[in-house]
Amino acid sequence: MTIADDRELVIRDLRVAPAANPDLEILQGIDLTIRKGEVHAIMGPNGSGKTTLSYALMGHPAYVIKGGEVRWKGYDLLTLSADKRSRLGLFLAFQYPTAIPGLSVASFIRSALNAKLQGIDKNPDIDPTDATRGGVTMLEFRRKMREKMALLKMEDSFATRYVNEGFSGGEKKRLEMLQMAMLEPEFAILDETDSGLDIDALRIVAEGVNAQLNPNMGVLLITHYQRLLNYIQPDFVHVLAAGRIVTSGGKDLAIRLEEEGYGPILRENGLDTGIPDEALAVPLEPEAAAASR
Ligand SMILES: Nc1ncnc2c1ncn2[C@@H]1O[C@H](COP(=O)(O)OP(=O)(O)O)[C@@H](O)[C@H]1O
Ligand SMILES: [Mg+2]
Repeated sequence: MTIADDRELVIRDLRVAPAANPDLEILQGIDLTIRKGEVHAIMGPNGSGKTTLSYALMGHPAYVIKGGEVRWKGYDLLTLSADKRSRLGLFLAFQYPTAIPGLSVASFIRSALNAKLQGIDKNPDIDPTDATRGGVTMLEFRRKMREKMALLKMEDSFATRYVNEGFSGGEKKRLEMLQMAMLEPEFAILDETDSGLDIDALRIVAEGVNAQLNPNMGVLLITHYQRLLNYIQPDFVHVLAAGRIVTSGGKDLAIRLEEEGYGPILRENGLDTGIPDEALAVPLEPEAAAASR
């Protein structure tokens, strides 16, 4: 029996497989407790299951839960639909955001915000479109959008563009951060929010995240490179490999990973993965690489 207070998210023995290959456990027993106000970085080689973890926490239908539990605010999250998890304050910034042609950024975010305002039980007394019944006025929504867009150095015209349609890699990641800023989650999972960003975009996105850090939000910061942690200070760093958290530490662990690559740390923990002992080189032109995917 796990006892979790309402300030922490507790992952116990989480086992996850892709729905397309349900016998293949990608995550083979993840244990992690993240308290509000803490930033936990998860680092791991490509293919180690970082995205699988973020999707499993959020309830993506392409993954099946083979075992374990995730406690949050008295619920086992794993039994809830993705929208309920969001209503409970969870947020996921995608590694590869999807385009939604025909839906404007402003409509998308307003719909999400309104849905969230009704809470997990969709309180019928709250009408998100009616300011006198717990809703947000259009004026207030626009003011907040402008404020958050300025924080992320986004042009006003962004709000009327279609979600991710024709966006550059950097614009896609900035839109993820705008959604986070507007929805004000209590638990945010950021899946490689630094990938595909050049150094200026990285700085803007990191400043956007830092401006949002507060004692009422826990953060799971997934990253392959230490670089992001130069801008966002983690309280804990965990290494994910072979389906488990193989070791945990502080910022120094991330620096060591950057200098030595994943090989030595994995071997120390009894894993011989054939991963070379090389410094982690950030791709030279990530923006171009992301655009070509
Ligand atoms: N349908 C599937 N069948 C077999 N393997 C899969 C399937 N879907 C995902 N995987 C594997 O799961 C592993 C973890 O992927 P992912 O969570 O995206 O890793 P990361 O985000 O750490 O790069 C990868 O090795 C990938 O090939
Ligand atoms: Mg990934």
